[in-house]
Amino acid sequence: MKILLVGSTARADCIAEAIVKSKSKPELYAVMGLINPGVKQKAKELTAHNVMDFDFITDYAKKVQPDFAVLGPDDPIAEGLTDELEKIGIKSFGPKKTVARIESSKSFARELMQKHEIEGLPDFKVFSEKQGMQDYANSLKEIVVKPDGLTGGKGVKVQGDHFDSIEAGLSYADEILQKGKVIIEERLEGEEFSLQSICDGKTVLDCVPAQDHKRAFENDAGPNTGGMGSYSCEDGLLPFLEEKHLKQAHKISEKIADALKKETKTEFVGILYGGFMLTKKGVKLIEYNARFGDPEAMNVLPILKTDFVEICQASINGTLNEISLEFEPKATVCKYAVPEGYPINSVKNEFIEFTAGQAKHYFGAIDEKNRHYLMTGSRAIAFVGTGSSLSEAEKIAQKALEGVKGKIFYRKDIGTEQLIQKRVKHMKKLLE
Ligand code: GLY
Repeated sequence: MKILLVGSTARADCIAEAIVKSKSKPELYAVMGLINPGVKQKAKELTAHNVMDFDFITDYAKKVQPDFAVLGPDDPIAEGLTDELEKIGIKSFGPKKTVARIESSKSFARELMQKHEIEGLPDFKVFSEKQGMQDYANSLKEIVVKPDGLTGGKGVKVQGDHFDSIEAGLSYADEILQKGKVIIEERLEGEEFSLQSICDGKTVLDCVPAQDHKRAFENDAGPNTGGMGSYSCEDGLLPFLEEKHLKQAHKISEKIADALKKETKTEFVGILYGGFMLTKKGVKLIEYNARFGDPEAMNVLPILKTDFVEICQASINGTLNEISLEFEPKATVCKYAVPEGYPINSVKNEFIEFTAGQAKHYFGAIDEKNRHYLMTGSRAIAFVGTGSSLSEAEKIAQKALEGVKGKIFYRKDIGTEQLIQKRVKHMKKLLE
């Protein structure tokens, strides 16, 4: 069996690991923006090329003739790489363009939920012009301002976190309107969680939930990033999340898969990743992604017991109802080592050295030169601790990070008892 992986970041290294450990022993062919040292080691062939160059990727796929492709990043999925590969007879574990709009257009996602009366929808309005925007924003207590398209996790701004007043939010909304639509929503309060589900358009199978940490610095301070790290728990819940909340989130994702099919006549094949928030009014949907989370892929794939290649095949063939997803009952903590200055003004071409110890490591924005690792400016290496408890997993990840040498920083607080208790107390107070 041959599998083509189109990837980026440490998520691709982690997906590559899940592919090559399959009992079907596939040969892995990968295309990434750079020669990722982890993927290079796992793949039969790794080609460095822009993953948005679809002519190149389809030519390469014609040559390799993979059994199927696995698509990692949001941009090529949003632009229709699945559709292009299908034109040459290659199926993908990754959705087609029309259903990938669930991630690439926030207005589409919100309007779909509204039309199909799917619960978990915050108060929102989509604007293509200024008219009515001020009145609507003033009718809400606090607002969130979102550009319609993909923003790499960095374009959404929240009152109280990124701006102080409705006026400041409206001025950001004006800026967005110069380029496209803007969504204004009520600001919700609660704890966020990520539920990544495997989907074939009919069946939705959930991975264990994880919680990401988007802000750059400890105690959730500083600018938004792609995600500094994340954790999951051995019981398949989160310390602030009960089974009934997971069921609510699952129901929303099932209804989304169904609504997408009704609306587009296309089945969603791949990862339907709901970014949810538990609020005092129940589970709300913040946004959907059409791919694995980064870092959250690293909380689920390393403990996945079911064969990942079988999962991809079942999703592509529409037979997910015939398999069950199983995970080891283990906690995971993922922490990213990122270059100093990230995400605004990262140092570049700086050396990084490490010994991962008991942790797993996945390479992200790293170039290898003469057997030395150089950081290229974005999240560099993800370290994942796995253990029978969160505290054990956290210690393993933390120890690996303490051994990293180079101009990096990371969030010590991810997965620690102190931060977890803060989250639990926050949620308890809201639910009182
Ligand atoms: N963890 C955020 C993302 O993958 O978009």
